[in-house]
Amino acid sequence: MADIYDRQYDDGRGRAYYSHLCDYILGAVPPGGDLLDLGCGTGLFMRRYLGTGGTASGLDISRGMIIRAQSRCPGSMVTVGDAEKLPFRDETFDAITSVLAFSYLRDPESMLRESFRVLRPGGTIAIITLGKNVMTALVPVIYRVGEVLKIRRVGMAYFGEHYYDEEEISELFHRIGYVDVQVQRRSVAHVNTGDLVFDLTKKVEPIVEHRLPKLAYNICVSGKKPER
Ligand SMILES: C[S@@+](CC[C@H](N)C(=O)[O-])C[C@H]1O[C@@H](n2cnc3c(N)ncnc32)[C@H](O)[C@@H]1O
Repeated sequence: MADIYDRQYDDGRGRAYYSHLCDYILGAVPPGGDLLDLGCGTGLFMRRYLGTGGTASGLDISRGMIIRAQSRCPGSMVTVGDAEKLPFRDETFDAITSVLAFSYLRDPESMLRESFRVLRPGGTIAIITLGKNVMTALVPVIYRVGEVLKIRRVGMAYFGEHYYDEEEISELFHRIGYVDVQVQRRSVAHVNTGDLVFDLTKKVEPIVEHRLPKLAYNICVSGKKPER
């Protein structure tokens, strides 16, 4: 799984797509702090954050992903665990990030509450996840058709992913207690297209993100834990 994942996001089109998402997250969190990346996968984002001069810890529910993250970021603390119940003390981190993992959580609110607990006052959270849009509305249908037709490429069963629009995710962050909540949409060129479509959509991406953001796939949210 870790090999498949790295091939998808650390090469060619995938790297361009992934970099575009990470640029948002890197711009939202302070450089050089103590960061925790939830659903860290193979450590691709952790490695980028380490480049800012900070520390990067990672947590993921998959042991295979964590083994790869450890070899990618050898000096970092990585932990197998559930983002909904964090094995860290209160007020441990300056920043919490989560890249493309939030939609898979069974109880996203628990993850946000736990993140609030382990953030230091004034700390920042920034996540990026598939937003509610035409494409994600079709995901359950695609999975179910795949199951019925036994199409292996669909890969996994539908397991109830959560997708939010701007108002819903902003309301969720505020409900937990985060302040300075900012939401924007990002990415039109998607890794799962051919090169031609990717190159074309990449060209129009800045215009779409700016003027027709509802057409962008991912939703990015950042917020702060209030200062004491
Ligand atoms: C699409 S991958 C993204 C990986 C990584 N954030 C990145 O940017 O490369 C989603 C990751 O979320 C992890 N995950 C799913 N549910 C989780 C949970 N409840 N707690 C922690 N990690 C979880 C998966 O194991 C997987 O590594």
